[in-house]
Parts: sequence; structure tokens; C-alpha cells
Amino acid sequence: VAAKPTFDWDSTRYVYAFGDSYTFVQGTLGFPTFSFIGDVLDLAFTPQQIFSDKIVPRNTSSDGANWIEFLTGCFGGLPSECSEKQLWNFAFAGADISADLLPRHHNFTTSLVEQVAQWATYASDVLPHPEDETLTFWWIGVNDVGDSLNNASILDIAAFWEMEMISYFNAVQMAFDNGLKNHVFINVPPEDRNPSYIGNVTEAAELKGNIALFNDALLNHSAAFVSQNPDANVMNFDSNVVFSDILDNAAEFGFTNITGFCTCPEASKEGYFWYDDGHPTEAVHKLVAEALRSQLEL
Ligand SMILES: *[C@@H]1O[C@H](CO)[C@@H](O)[C@H](O)[C@H]1NC(C)=O
Ligand SMILES: *[C@@H]1O[C@H](CO)[C@@H](O)[C@H](O)[C@H]1NC(C)=O
Ligand SMILES: *[C@@H]1O[C@H](CO)[C@@H](O)[C@H](O)[C@H]1NC(C)=O
Ligand SMILES: *[C@@H]1O[C@H](CO)[C@@H](O)[C@H](O)[C@H]1NC(C)=O
Ligand SMILES: *[C@@H]1O[C@H](CO)[C@@H](O)[C@H](O)[C@H]1NC(C)=O
Ligand SMILES: *[C@@H]1O[C@H](CO)[C@@H](O)[C@H](O)[C@H]1NC(C)=O
Repeated sequence: VAAKPTFDWDSTRYVYAFGDSYTFVQGTLGFPTFSFIGDVLDLAFTPQQIFSDKIVPRNTSSDGANWIEFLTGCFGGLPSECSEKQLWNFAFAGADISADLLPRHHNFTTSLVEQVAQWATYASDVLPHPEDETLTFWWIGVNDVGDSLNNASILDIAAFWEMEMISYFNAVQMAFDNGLKNHVFINVPPEDRNPSYIGNVTEAAELKGNIALFNDALLNHSAAFVSQNPDANVMNFDSNVVFSDILDNAAEFGFTNITGFCTCPEASKEGYFWYDDGHPTEAVHKLVAEALRSQLEL
């Protein structure tokens, strides 16, 4: 891989994120339970609005803090007042890469490519992103792998992922061209082991294969991106390995239930890996952040 190996995480002060429900945080000016700011039917914001938008604590897809909050220490309030790193999070729950390739979950869902366009149009001239102090995280594909499964019009999944990657990396290029130089790409975790697929061996096996191909294509394209943009820095983070390691050694990590989820109060979710049929619990988010921090500090 042509990527320069490490980032200076300690001197990183500005963190940007694009993605889906695994990554989004709730903003006081966001779409309730979906985003930090705006939605695809209402993407615009003023500088005053984004600088007054506050992160609502523990209002994520696990009803706890999520990986990027644990990683940045930015758990709530104004991002600009977070003490170590500011978190500017454009992820939108339910996002796929592009609405041209897979249908939106809702008519207000902001796809990944639209998140980047939103950032480029309304935020890139407003929010700070000095090159040496800024890192951008991408975690997308969880919805794409689920939404494309059993789609009879997709005859060649590798060819479909190739189209998805072209959209994805056009968006990455747009981010780069507008000043985001350092990127971390996170692959798709083993969704075949989540409670909605675990009972169907055939379907889980197909999903697992599709995820492996998606993740290979992602590595190919992150390598191609850095070779086309020599002053970019790229790191790949293998969430599939991290999740699998936890699931394979669950007891060691304090999990007693890795197959089901509990529709019960937060306090009773102790020991559960899955929060619902497709999202991990806060305990998993914390472990992901720890693994990511170790890799960033290598
Ligand atoms: C947090 O999210 C829940 C849904 O999970 C929502 O009902 C609640 O109003 C949110 N809290 C705030 C302060 O936005
Ligand atoms: C979005 O969907 C909602 C619910 O189906 C509908 O009421 C609304 O008119 C739609 N908005 C647009 C702009 O299509
Ligand atoms: C199936 O995939 C095609 C893209 O190949 C897309 O246009 C279509 O909307 C998808 N159908 C569903 C139900 O997701
Ligand atoms: C497994 O999933 C496939 C594809 O969705 C479906 O056709 C099949 O009926 C499922 N089998 C079981 C046992 O649920
Ligand atoms: C990745 O690139 C290699 C070399 O160009 C190619 O052989 C392989 O098929 C690609 N894999 C995917 C999943 O795109
Ligand atoms: C996991 O949790 C689900 C939901 O509470 C429950 O039905 C299942 O029996 C549990 N599995 C184990 C191995 O405890």
C-alpha cells in the first residue's frame, strides 16, 4: 500500500465523519434520531447555525455514546468547545453510498455522496480543517450490503461494488479537493453475524461473501485514491476483524450474549453485543474506539 503509514493523532484537533447510523450523532439542529445537521430535503445551514448546533449526549444508534465520541472525547455540547478534538459529524442514519444505486430508506435520508456535497457547499469554507491537524473518518457500507442482498436485478455483486466504489471515491475526491487530506476508511463489519441474519445460514453465507468483496474493493480503491493523490494520507481500519475477534472471544470481552438483543432498559443490556437486530451496543463502540486509537497511535 502506497499510503504513508501513520497519522499524528495527538496533534489532530479536527475530526470529520461521513457515514451511517453506526457513526451519526444527534445534533440539536439535526433530523431527530438521524443526523447532526439537516437532511437531504433541507441540506442548507448558515455558519451561525452550525456553530450553535450541539451534540446531544448518548443519542446514537445504541442509545449510548458511539465509537467516534469515545475516540474524540467529544460527547456532547458544541463541537467547537470539545477540549481535545472537535467532532464535525455529517453521517446520517440509514445512509447508503448513493441514492442513484440503492433506494433511500426515507425520502429525507442523506446518502454518503450527499453528505459530502453538504459539507463542501455549506461547511468547507466555514469549519476549520488545517491539513496537519485534521483527520476524516469514513464508515459506510453496512446499509449497502443489507439493501443489495436478494436484489434480483444485481446479477454480479463485484461489478455492483465497483459502481458503488466509483461513487464513494468521487465523494472522497471532492472532500480532498476541498481540503480534507487525511483519511481513515473503515470497512464493513460481519453483519452476517447480526441477529437478523444469524438464523438463516444460507443468507448469512451469501452476505458474508458480499461483505468480503465489498471490503476488498474498498482496499483497492483506497490504494488507488492515494496513488492518484500523493499528498493524501490514507489508513484502512478493519472493523470486520475487530468485531469478529470480539464475537469469537466474547467472554473475554465481557459479552454473554452475541446472538440476540434485549428490548429492555439500558441497564439490563449488560453483556449484550447487539443493541438491536443491526446495531452494536455501547460496549462494542467503546472497544472499536480503543482498537482504532491503538492503530492511530502506532
Ligand atoms: C434521543 O433519542 C430518542 C430516540 O432514540 C428520542 O426519543 C429522544 O427525544 C432523543 N433525545 C433528545 C434530547 O433529543
Ligand atoms: C416525504 O415522505 C413523507 C411521508 O411519506 C411525505 O409526507 C412527504 O410529503 C414527502 N416529502 C417529499 C418532499 O417528498
Ligand atoms: C436493486 O438494485 C438496483 C440497482 O442495481 C436499484 O436500482 C433498485 O432500486 C434496487 N431495488 C431495491 C428494492 O432495492
Ligand atoms: C433465508 O433467506 C432467504 C433469502 O431471503 C429466504 O428465501 C429463505 O426463505 C430464508 N430461510 C429461512 C429458513 O428463513
Ligand atoms: C482489486 O484489484 C486487483 C488488482 O487490480 C484485482 O485483481 C481485484 O479483482 C480487485 N478486487 C476487487 C474486489 O475489486
Ligand atoms: C440472548 O438474548 C436473547 C434475547 O434476550 C435471548 O432470547 C437468548 O436466549 C439469549 N441467548 C443466550 C445464549 O443467552
